[in-house]
Amino acid sequence: MLDFSKILVTAALPYANGPLHLGHIRSTYLPADIYARYQRLIGNECLYICASDEHGTPIVASAEKEKKSPEQFARHYHDKDKEEFEKLGFSMDIFHRTSSKENREMTQHFFNRLNEGGYIYQKEVAQAYCENCKRFLPDRFVIGTCPYCKAEGQYSDYCDSCGKALGPGEIQDPKCLVCGSPPATKTTRHYFLALSKFAPKLREWLTGNENLQKEVVNYVVNWIDNGLADWDISRDLDWGVPVPGEKGMVFYVWFDAPIGYVSSTVAFTGKWAEFWKNPDSKVVHFIGKDIIYHHFLFWPAMLLGTGEFNLPTAIPTRGYLNLEKRKFSKSKNWFVSLGDFLAEFDPDLLRYYETAITPHKVEDADFAWKDFQARVNNELVANLGNFVNRTLVLAKKLSDSKIPEPKNLDARDKELLELIGKKKEKISAHFENFFFKEAQEEAFFLSAEFNRYLSEREPWKEKDGQKVSNCLYVCLRGISALAVLIEPLLPFSSKKIQGMLSISPEQIKWDNAELELVKPGTPITNIAPLYSKISDEQVEKQQAKLKG
Ligand code: MSP
Ligand code: ZN
Repeated sequence: MLDFSKILVTAALPYANGPLHLGHIRSTYLPADIYARYQRLIGNECLYICASDEHGTPIVASAEKEKKSPEQFARHYHDKDKEEFEKLGFSMDIFHRTSSKENREMTQHFFNRLNEGGYIYQKEVAQAYCENCKRFLPDRFVIGTCPYCKAEGQYSDYCDSCGKALGPGEIQDPKCLVCGSPPATKTTRHYFLALSKFAPKLREWLTGNENLQKEVVNYVVNWIDNGLADWDISRDLDWGVPVPGEKGMVFYVWFDAPIGYVSSTVAFTGKWAEFWKNPDSKVVHFIGKDIIYHHFLFWPAMLLGTGEFNLPTAIPTRGYLNLEKRKFSKSKNWFVSLGDFLAEFDPDLLRYYETAITPHKVEDADFAWKDFQARVNNELVANLGNFVNRTLVLAKKLSDSKIPEPKNLDARDKELLELIGKKKEKISAHFENFFFKEAQEEAFFLSAEFNRYLSEREPWKEKDGQKVSNCLYVCLRGISALAVLIEPLLPFSSKKIQGMLSISPEQIKWDNAELELVKPGTPITNIAPLYSKISDEQVEKQQAKLKG
């Protein structure tokens, strides 16, 4: 579909304001990793760029609560996220920070360009102000009672209890987060981006780009039809990227956050034009459905307004993950952090399951421990795990732990070898089109076909030694092909296979899948099962954590 040789893949920048959970992985970081790994396998120059999103009032408020500086507080989650992403095998080329020097400079550059283009203006706005603390109280610095569900201690822009977004002035009994006194209202001067001016160009891009998901485009165009409000891009605050020429004023976090995609490219490559301006290069942003507005309207408007960047080629958008039918919530202890998950389970189990329940759509899905166990045991272990293990154990017994020499393969043997190439083509098309669930299903169909062939041939009963060799040879070719085909999806499983069959990392290239990667006579070493089943006790332990 898309023929570009340079590809810049990004995943939405995680807020450095709390631990990552299973949901973040599902919509954003895992799909981006699968795509980036696939692009590298087929030989494209591909960067996977990410960073922690460190500005904004929630981080300032959380840091104040813990008596830390916002910088210290954000660094803690930056380091933690980075470590967990590595444990999951995410192949990010850089995991940078929006509080970096590169991002401050790039954000000011964007602002200056937009200003020169006539897209920025200033306007007086009414803002909560604490007379006691002598400061403005943006967004999360005001807490009060939710007008809808009456929950107390909620932020003025969002109720964590009922999940409603609250507009200015809606919160009841407002108080300053820091000192508890009721705020006054003062006027202050803010900067605005004239989003409305971009409406015609945005509409043209949205409706003319066939790589954008129709279901998303439809309601973004609807927002445009209903009229775009200009965007307040400054805050009276110290933590953030300073607005040039102003004191005590920074950019709104959503202004500098997407610029983090560009500034992190600079931090990694030393330049940006090669990926962001070059006509042979494409930019693909992976996001969850809650940040569609920001990526389909704000960000393209910012890019257009500077006149210096390509617009994104695709913005694959996926839905939310719930946990046992309810929203993830840290404060209600309805939560499985990535750290806790990885302490108990192999990363590929999560990768398998989340891909299996995630089509290329904005629909939501549910993570249920029982279902996770069932799909891992009945699919991952019973299909791929079983096929690989059975073959290798048989090769140890019947072929002296060596790749056997094939001779006079029959039609059925050849049919299996040919199936590899056919499936490879299908899987390629799925990866190209962001259909990772379908790509995984095809790879598992291939593995199941080989496993069926192995059962049908019963080499453990076969008297003819050459027939035994042929069958094991064919199965081992299936395994080496799978080491390539599943690499974007299940990199740790692929690595284990590579280890046992002595396949070198340089051989793992998409076009090698149907080749004889391992010569007859090569020893098979350290044979061990790829996975073990998830037990009922393991599941009960996890379920108990949620209840307890
Ligand atoms: N910091 C912003 C993104 C800035 S991009 C310039 C943000 N951060 S986040 O930490 O809240 O979310 C990170 C990613 O995870 C986003 O793509 C978001 O849509 C996704 N998800 C957050 N919760 C999720 C679920 N429960 N389920 C699926 N995806 C989820 O948004
Ligand atoms: Zn106060």
